Amino acid sequence: MYCFRVVGLKKLDKSFLPDAGLEAAIELLREVPSKRKILPEGFPESGFGELETLELLAPYVLGGAAKLDDPKSFAHMDPPTPWITWATSLWNARLNQNLLHYETAPFAIEAEERVIGWLAPYFGMDGGHMCSGSTLANLTALWAARESGGIEKIVASDTAHLSIVKASKILGLPIEIIESDSEDKITRKKLGDLSNACLVLTAGTTKTGVIDDLSLVGSAKWTHVDGAWAGPLRFSRKHAQLLDGIDKADSVSVSAHKWLFQPKESALILFKNNEAATKEISFGGEYMSSPNIGVQGSRGASAVSLLATIIAWGREGIAHYIDLSMSNSEKFAIEVQKSERISLWAFPQTGVTVFRPVDLSTRDFMANLPSGMFSSCNFGHETWIRSVAANPMTDIEQILRIVKKVLM
Ligand SMILES: Cc1ncc(COP(=O)(O)O)c(C=O)c1O
Repeated sequence: MYCFRVVGLKKLDKSFLPDAGLEAAIELLREVPSKRKILPEGFPESGFGELETLELLAPYVLGGAAKLDDPKSFAHMDPPTPWITWATSLWNARLNQNLLHYETAPFAIEAEERVIGWLAPYFGMDGGHMCSGSTLANLTALWAARESGGIEKIVASDTAHLSIVKASKILGLPIEIIESDSEDKITRKKLGDLSNACLVLTAGTTKTGVIDDLSLVGSAKWTHVDGAWAGPLRFSRKHAQLLDGIDKADSVSVSAHKWLFQPKESALILFKNNEAATKEISFGGEYMSSPNIGVQGSRGASAVSLLATIIAWGREGIAHYIDLSMSNSEKFAIEVQKSERISLWAFPQTGVTVFRPVDLSTRDFMANLPSGMFSSCNFGHETWIRSVAANPMTDIEQILRIVKKVLM
C-alpha cells in the first residue's frame, strides 16, 4: 500500500520533520489492516523505518482495542474522543511542551488558564489546574486540605473512589470510612465530628453513578467533591441542578477524559480559593521561572485539546452530548424496568445503570453479549451488570434487541 524506505542511520534526522508518513497514519485510522505481521522478538538492532512500523503496528494498536464509539459500547466511563482532539494531540506530540516551563509553552499555559477560567465558575470555584487524572486531582485536593486547610483526617463513604484511600495512605492521614445507605450514598447520621476533617463527597460514584447528598457540603473543615464522573453535568441546563450545592465546596475534581470526551490524560482540580489552597503545595527551583504547583512535575498540554473542544462545540455542544448520554441511559433503564426477566438496581442518576437478569447468572448473561457492551460490579458477593453512558453514539434499540435475544 505504501512504499517503504530502508532506513540508514543518516536518514534518521528526517524522523523529526513533518513527513508524508503522517498522512499514511491518518489513512490507517480510516482503514485498519486486519492482518497482523509478526512483531520483532527483541529490541531491533536496525530500525524498520517509520512507515513500515506504522503498517506493522496498525493492526495491533488500532485493531487491538475496544471501539468506544461502537453503537454497542456502553460499558465504561471511557468515552470516544472527537477528532479535533486527535488533531490537537498530534500538535501536542509534535511540540512536546512542558507546562512547567513558560518558555516552552507560553500559549499552552494560557490555554490552561482560559479553560480553568471558563469552567471553574460552573462549580463555584475560582481557579485550579489540570492534571493527568482524577486520582491525582483527588490526591492534590486532600494534600491542599491538609497543608492549607489544616485538616487532620479524611471522612468518606465506602462508595468513594479507591483514589481517596490511596491518598490517605500517601499523605499519612487517617481515614474514616462511613457505611453507605441502601441508595449507595453517604449516611448523614453516621457522620461524627467533622471539625478537623476533610469530608469527601462523590458526585457520580464509580459503581452506581449516585450523587452523595451535596447539602452536606460545608459541614466539615474542608469539603472535597469528587466529580470525576458527573461533574460535567454542571454544563447541562437540563441536569446542572443535580449538582446543586457543589459551589460551596472547598475543592472539586473533574475528569475531562470522562464526560468531557478528552483523550487521556486529562482532569481538573479546582479550588474555591485557588491561591490560598495551592500556596503550600507549590515549590520553586533554581531552574524554574515559576513555581511547580501540585503533585505532578512535567506536564503536557492537555488543555489545548480541551480548549479546542470547548471552542469547537461551545457549552451547548458539550451539553448536547451529555444530555444525549443521559437520555440513552434513561431509555435503557425504562425498557429494562419493564422486563420481568431483569432486575434494575435503581433508576440511573448520572448515566450509570446497574441491573441483572433474574433467572440467568450474570456470568452466563455476559458471556453471550458482545464484549464492551456492559461491565460488571459487585455488591458484597452478588455480581450485577453495569452500563455507563459515556458513548453518545450508543444505539439503545440495538443493545435492547441483543439483551432480549440473550434472555429468550
Ligand atoms: C468517582 C471517581 N473518582 C476518581 C476516579 C479516578 O480517576 P482517574 O482514573 O482519572 O485517575 C474515578 C475513575 O473512574 C472515579 O470514577
